[in-house]
Amino acid sequence: VTAHIDTAGFEARYRDEGDPWGYETSDYEREKYAATLAACGTGPFERALELGASIGVFSALLAPRCRSLETIDAAPTAVAAARGRLAGRSGVSVREGEIPSALRAGPYDLVVASEILYYLEPAALDATLDALRTRMAPGGRLVAVHWRPPGPERPFDADQVHARLMACEWLSPVFSGDHPEYRLDVLVRA
Ligand SMILES: C[S@@+](CC[C@H](N)C(=O)[O-])C[C@H]1O[C@@H](n2cnc3c(N)ncnc32)[C@H](O)[C@@H]1O
Repeated sequence: VTAHIDTAGFEARYRDEGDPWGYETSDYEREKYAATLAACGTGPFERALELGASIGVFSALLAPRCRSLETIDAAPTAVAAARGRLAGRSGVSVREGEIPSALRAGPYDLVVASEILYYLEPAALDATLDALRTRMAPGGRLVAVHWRPPGPERPFDADQVHARLMACEWLSPVFSGDHPEYRLDVLVRA
């Protein structure tokens, strides 16, 4: 029996609590989003992708820097909240779907993976990295951010996921944040 949270588990939490991780209210999230946005850079990005975008709080900050922003999340309740928040923003599309199978073809010049990759089971993480390799434009940026403490809900911890990214020969690390609570790395597609 695994304690890992799956996509149905995420959906149940959004249905019960609305904003289970305090994306709209917590100081941790506000600071993390500011650091993530700074790591993305000012853009403008031609075609950006945000993985596991949840209720769209970070998406709303990122959207002004993107000519086109696609977000994807598997939890319908979170997707509905993100659609409400992002309604009327030009160039933004909020999709319900599972990573990696529902990823579109790209090419993306920015991919943001914030607190999502360590929830993927090993085969899904492999397939996601494989998919990003073919979907990221040469010179495109991958901004990865993951909370450091390990937990039973996640198959990987932040260090394991970021080590996997660092080991991808098609990615070159260009920036590492230094924060006690989360890992933040920027890697560029060769
Ligand atoms: C902890 S939240 C992170 C939210 C946001 N990126 C942030 O950092 O504030 C993880 C999100 O990933 C979504 N998720 C988890 N596994 C997924 C999968 N395989 N495909 C799509 N979304 C997934 C969940 O529904 C949840 O909204």
